[in-house]
Amino acid sequence: MTRGLRRRLTSYGDQDFSLFLRKAFIKAMGYSDDALDRPIVGIANTYSDYNPCHGNVPQLIEAAKRGVMLAGGMPMVFPTMSIHESFASPTSMFLRNLMAMETEELVRAQPMDSVILIGGCDKTIPAQVMAAASSEVPAIVLPTGPMDTGSHRGERLGACTDCRRIWAQYRADQIDADEVAEINGKLASSVGTCTVMGTASTMAALMEAMGLSLPMAGSASATSSERMRLAEETGRAAVAMTETGLTTAEVLTPAALRNGLVTLQALGGSTNAVVHLAAIYGRLGKKLDMAEFDAIGQKVPVLVDLKPTGTGYMGEFHAAGGVPRLLSELTDLLDLAAPRAFGGTLGDTIGTLPARYETQIIRPRTAPISPAGAIAVLSGNLAPRGAVIKHAAADPKLQVHEGRAVVFDSVRDMTERLDDPSLDIAADDVLVLRNAGPKGAPGMPEAGYIPIPRHLARQGVKDMVRLSDARMSGTAFGTVVLHITPESADGGPLAAVRTGDRIRLDVPNRRLELLISATELAARMAALPAPPPSPPRGYAQLYDRHVTQADDGLDFDFLMAAKDHG
Ligand code: FES
Repeated sequence: MTRGLRRRLTSYGDQDFSLFLRKAFIKAMGYSDDALDRPIVGIANTYSDYNPCHGNVPQLIEAAKRGVMLAGGMPMVFPTMSIHESFASPTSMFLRNLMAMETEELVRAQPMDSVILIGGCDKTIPAQVMAAASSEVPAIVLPTGPMDTGSHRGERLGACTDCRRIWAQYRADQIDADEVAEINGKLASSVGTCTVMGTASTMAALMEAMGLSLPMAGSASATSSERMRLAEETGRAAVAMTETGLTTAEVLTPAALRNGLVTLQALGGSTNAVVHLAAIYGRLGKKLDMAEFDAIGQKVPVLVDLKPTGTGYMGEFHAAGGVPRLLSELTDLLDLAAPRAFGGTLGDTIGTLPARYETQIIRPRTAPISPAGAIAVLSGNLAPRGAVIKHAAADPKLQVHEGRAVVFDSVRDMTERLDDPSLDIAADDVLVLRNAGPKGAPGMPEAGYIPIPRHLARQGVKDMVRLSDARMSGTAFGTVVLHITPESADGGPLAAVRTGDRIRLDVPNRRLELLISATELAARMAALPAPPPSPPRGYAQLYDRHVTQADDGLDFDFLMAAKDHG
């Protein structure tokens, strides 16, 4: 096999000249022939001044390079896109596929025998794994790690469940503008990813469970010396992978993918992970079976007591033993023979655990947070291809609920009318948001966590049934039905709901129904206006023409592998 600098030569019609030219140029960087004859480990640099979740990437790169060189390899750092949740308009999801495409093509175009993918903020690890799944280069993920917590008047704070909780208190006049401004400087007290079991922590944990990152790499603090040692160890592992490494598609066997689904439910993880896993399945020519995911959820207990479903932060999860400890509680539900990118099996990950001393943050099976998993899959005439609800983070009293629909036609409509004192709305109504899906918004914003209307919040209302074709931040909570598929802007019946209709949510029976007749629904659907034309140019046009629905992970149709139904 062609290796190192000889790999993937630029085409000039003369391979020897191509190598001669490549060496001549790269020697300008001061490298010796000895260095250039080593196996090459690419390191994806996702540092950006716009991405505080990746603020430690320069230090991680230095540590990973050290590990590569100690193991006899040659590290080559290359830049890729970086996406932060708060610095991506219209949404970070809109850009995820662009990052996946760029990463895939740079890993393919440049000579490297393995690659370290440094990611962290919500969309970056998914984009990188989608890229790796479509690439033949062995890959290992190095998460940036969670941020540290801060405190305010004796209370611990961490982004970003507390961001939403504090803002809800401000909207309800429970804290004033001065205090909310003071808290603003304390919510993200260091670089690193959100320190609850949001999307970033969920995806980092799944990397361990699916064999794509080293044990404990999903949870060690972004600012810790342990994180740097994990980076060095990742560098060493990546050199070994240049000889023996499996491709990501070989690591992500059906067993590994299923292990990911089990872990997601046991974590009380983010609903966004369902979308990202569906996209990764698609890259492998498979379809995420939502019915199977729901069935797994009915068997797998929630064992992790972290916000937003519980009380703790990522620091406690790491101290309690992190993902290996969690997996050790699930051995009968996992396939321990699933491979790891860096060698061995998932069984090896949990084979050397120290004795358990903690039982609150990672619960034993005998004392779960909840006997069933975190996320349920709903269907019905409002969601023909499914919807999800993180019922572990919802008010138990609202899980079977019938109410009057109050419809918002877009995120903008919701923003303009939600707090209008003249809005006719009561606590037992059902808030409906549409045109917030993959195409409609576009970019499927995290707008599904519709705020409680201000005048109801002031009366003490903390949760209402809310439903939409949008997503929700993994750090959010409430009785929020998400990812209604197909979306309203792509022929979904959500488009036909009218204010005043009755809607019934029944989580135990997994149903979501608009209580009108099939004839009436068909007549309303037939009367809907034609969708607007695609944007006139550029990435927005590419996105609009090719983005898939939530059940296919919002990947572009031309990036998915041919289905093998395996
Ligand atoms: Fe980056 Fe939360 S904003 S992980």
